[in-house]
Amino acid sequence: MILWTDKYKPKNSDGIIAQKKALEQTREWLGKWKKGRALLFYGPPGVGKSLIPEVLASEGNMELMQLNASEKRNTEQIERFLHTARTRSLFSRGKFILLDEIDGISGQDRGAVSSIIKLIKNSDYPVFLVANDPYSAKLRPLRAYAELVKFSRIPVPSVAKRLREICEKEGIKAEPDVLKNLARWSQGDLRSAITDLQMVCQGEKEISPKNLEILGFREREAGVFEIMPAIFRSGSINAARNMIKTADKDPDEIFLWIEANIQYEFREPEEIAEAYDILSKADIFRGIVSRQQNWRFKGYMIDIMSGVSLAGNGERHGWVKYQSPQKLFILGSTKAKRAAMESLCRKIGSVLHCSSRKAKEAYVPYLKILMKKQKGLAEGLGLEPEEIEIIRKF
Ligand SMILES: Nc1ncnc2c1ncn2[C@@H]1O[C@H](COP(=O)(O)OP(=O)(O)O)[C@@H](O)[C@H]1O
Ligand SMILES: [Mg+2]
Repeated sequence: MILWTDKYKPKNSDGIIAQKKALEQTREWLGKWKKGRALLFYGPPGVGKSLIPEVLASEGNMELMQLNASEKRNTEQIERFLHTARTRSLFSRGKFILLDEIDGISGQDRGAVSSIIKLIKNSDYPVFLVANDPYSAKLRPLRAYAELVKFSRIPVPSVAKRLREICEKEGIKAEPDVLKNLARWSQGDLRSAITDLQMVCQGEKEISPKNLEILGFREREAGVFEIMPAIFRSGSINAARNMIKTADKDPDEIFLWIEANIQYEFREPEEIAEAYDILSKADIFRGIVSRQQNWRFKGYMIDIMSGVSLAGNGERHGWVKYQSPQKLFILGSTKAKRAAMESLCRKIGSVLHCSSRKAKEAYVPYLKILMKKQKGLAEGLGLEPEEIEIIRKF
């Protein structure tokens, strides 16, 4: 299968979407390039950081020598690459050197950073570095040798437009809403938008919102960091609901994630208020579910939760680092306590020949009193120290 990200990779700089400033800055820098200086591209994934050196190299009929530093490499391998890269061979055409994903070099590998610096100092050719986060401590020494070029997320309308062009070339009819949602979903990551589109179009001549469900299924194995944008940014209650229903996480847990991240996802106070308002309505049903064990209401809770996908004016800002909800840890710890309590009651029940529920209701409160009076009682029942502790605090 040929990947559409390769098939539709621009051949020249006219095809590069957005990134005008980055492209301009790069050209200018190349024009006055001096040995000893490098260019450091940084920004979110899938926006053209690796693409620009490639396109500029082919436009200038240059060779592009690249090393992806994120694949486990040691200093020695990097050194070897750098050695062949930096020196001019007699008849070769010019080249660009691209060290991609350098945040991938491991923190302990101090040697790697200093050999990159060595390369920058000695290279006869321009060196491009690419990192997601150029401000990380381990890359600090490099920054003295590099000019930073910032890459931004690609605006949603531009992503949608690109998806439309690809559909036209593939002869696929797409409803505009589908492409818009795919674009929003991607959070300005064109690579993932194109990959998603290719998945959705698999074997189709026409795509409608229904086809997006396949992404829901793909998201099944996805972590919460894929689930969150799908809920917050799909722009469709159906897509959000589908995600909550098919995700491998419990809706209660997703609820907590939404609650914890509304403040990061939305910018305007009114939007934040609106989102919390929607969630508070879902919370009413959440309460009924847990109090009455009434699972029918779980469906209502999910339906209402999905409404956060439409909160605000639909505009979302940049990339959001979703935070894990504090409450989960608390729930986690009470869960452990509950499990310990259950095992305790089972033990007592088996000694006293009663159900563990009866043990909990009828005996544990008395055990607490008896234990104080009668030393060695708990040990006699075969209880573990943690279990004794639970009874003490009961
Ligand atoms: N600005 C862009 N213009 C056109 N296509 C792009 C752009 N950014 C990304 N793409 C598409 O996404 C793919 C991956 O882009 P790439 O530059 O490798 O991303 P990264 O920023 O993570 O290095 C490209 O091969 C291309 O198909
Ligand atoms: Mg890249």
